[in-house]
Amino acid sequence: MSEQRGNWTSNAGFILAATGSAIGLGNLWKFPFITWENNGGAFVLVYLLCIAAVGLPIMMAELLIGRRTQKSAVGALKEAVGPAWGFVGLWGVLCGFTLLSYYTVIAGWSLFFFFKTAGWMVGGFPESTSLGQVFTEQSANGGLQLGLSLAFSIATVSVVYFGVQKGIEKIARLFLPILFAILLLLLFTSFAMEGSGEAMAFIFRPSFGELDRGSILEALGHAFFTLSLGMGAMITYGSYMAKHQSIVKASAIIVLLDTVIALVATIIMFTVIFTAGLQDQVSDTGTVGMLFISLPQLFFAEGVVPFGHILAPLFYVLVALAALTSTMSLLEVVTSYVIDEHGIPRQKATLMCGATVFMFTILAALSFGGASFATNLSVPGPIGDLFFAGKTSWFGMADHFVSNWMLPTGGLAITIAAGWVLTREVSESELVDETTPSWFNYSAWRFFIRYVAPVAISVIVVAVIFFGVDFS
Ligand code: TRP
Repeated sequence: MSEQRGNWTSNAGFILAATGSAIGLGNLWKFPFITWENNGGAFVLVYLLCIAAVGLPIMMAELLIGRRTQKSAVGALKEAVGPAWGFVGLWGVLCGFTLLSYYTVIAGWSLFFFFKTAGWMVGGFPESTSLGQVFTEQSANGGLQLGLSLAFSIATVSVVYFGVQKGIEKIARLFLPILFAILLLLLFTSFAMEGSGEAMAFIFRPSFGELDRGSILEALGHAFFTLSLGMGAMITYGSYMAKHQSIVKASAIIVLLDTVIALVATIIMFTVIFTAGLQDQVSDTGTVGMLFISLPQLFFAEGVVPFGHILAPLFYVLVALAALTSTMSLLEVVTSYVIDEHGIPRQKATLMCGATVFMFTILAALSFGGASFATNLSVPGPIGDLFFAGKTSWFGMADHFVSNWMLPTGGLAITIAAGWVLTREVSESELVDETTPSWFNYSAWRFFIRYVAPVAISVIVVAVIFFGVDFS
């Protein structure tokens, strides 16, 4: 049995795969926008604090539970903390399933904009084009949406089908360096643009007057999302780790890279926006707008981005790659559960899970006007209000439910498992050995995982229940 189970071929391979899981649409699509909405500076500072005080300790906790048991989410929690905890693992699997079902649709948009911008690169940008309209039309085109998300689903399934070493690790090793290179190139380009100073000030100069309770909670909720925590994804990746790999060191690198990339992406986007003076338009077009409406336009506008017409398709390749290294990790959470707990071979399990998730992706793909039953789907009454904030469409409801309910509750359960149920001996023996870096202090970790993290997450959960704060 243990021979059949995959393992990372090297420490670097594991770190790249886990970093690939963390870096995704959360970094490129969500973080820049919520930073914008919350007026930068102070919000970024709070977010960094959440990453360090809650994200980092939980990253270590998930990896250690996985590596200790060499099992995916459900089996790992059952074995490490007790049979009843299998439900927390199942909750995570369900969360991965739901998140994957709509994440794939946004990933599909990056394919669309890759082809679109590549077309403009070759044929020239038609001046009369309204990108708001381009976006709305493509998202309301049911056939197109189904095609794009099917293409992306097939890509995801193809990777997971080949397993941990030949699929996931290989793709992460290949794509992450490309992703870093493209981002670096864009960052240097943005430094040459006149709006960069303004962008940096917006992101890094805190003005605490702008900060309210909602912003603090939003920062915490996003810390979970961006680090792929709270649903057993890192338990699963940790289960393929070898004993000689340092969990502490790996966690620090993953968290650091994810954070740096989110900031770099934000600097790039804001620089472009400030240079073109498009602040008002961005505020109007919402989350989706920044990545898919404002940016493509700016790449092609005269004198905004040097070599913009070449960088534009490159940029959407970057978005697609970042999304793929996340979708494959999401599918792995679901698939590895089916493999480990139901004894189904990987190839068959991958196809089954991929196909089942796609049923729901169909609903998500048609959520933007493609089909009225999907677009208007809703849960009426107080249940709908509490769990879905009255949102309509599979996409809207799933996104809301995952960010506001599933990740925080799953995360809370995992901190309790790691801090209060798992014994000191177990967690200490996983975290502390000769590979552990000298800055790490086990007692401090234990304090954070037992007190700081659960209290902070409880605040989120209570806020969601009683004040209806929305993190999606
Ligand atoms: N971290 C991913 C992003 O920022 C999203 C995500 C959340 C995720 N949970 C996950 C990805 C679990 C893979 C596995 O886009």
